[in-house]
Amino acid sequence: MSKNAVRYEERAEHGIELSREGVAEISSALRELLADVFTLYLKTKNFHWHMSGRHFRDYHLLLDEHGDQLFAMTDEIAERGRKIGGATLHSISDISGHQRLADNNKDVVSPEDMLVELLEDSRRLTGFLRSTHELCGRHNDVATTSLIEVWIDQTERRTWFLAEIVGRT
Ligand SMILES: [Fe+2]
Repeated sequence: MSKNAVRYEERAEHGIELSREGVAEISSALRELLADVFTLYLKTKNFHWHMSGRHFRDYHLLLDEHGDQLFAMTDEIAERGRKIGGATLHSISDISGHQRLADNNKDVVSPEDMLVELLEDSRRLTGFLRSTHELCGRHNDVATTSLIEVWIDQTERRTWFLAEIVGRT
């Protein structure tokens, strides 16, 4: 039995009513989303660890909170992909093959630059979530659209905090 046939069986067993094309397109979009969320999670922790300056405590704690929210999203995204019968990411190299948001490997980044970069990434992530939402809507995948609505709300909350801090609302 081919890999695709196994996935089709799995899908049928789980009672997911999506076309083969729908599963392929949505699980591919979810893999990209997962890679971006892992990228943003690690960047957020990176900035949490390397934060400095007179607002250290506030920013360090805020980024820890944001990191926790992003990390919680990763399991939900991966499991939604599996639930519809698709494959998800396997490794760090798989993440780097799918991520659209960029890493930041600089030794020193100013606190303001950290927050501005997270703000821009956060806004881009909302854009990716919205386009995935549209795709799921086209395939009538109501459960994934519903999950994405919650992720958009959480992402907009993080964006709001970052925007208020850097004064770019
Ligand atoms: Fe920590």
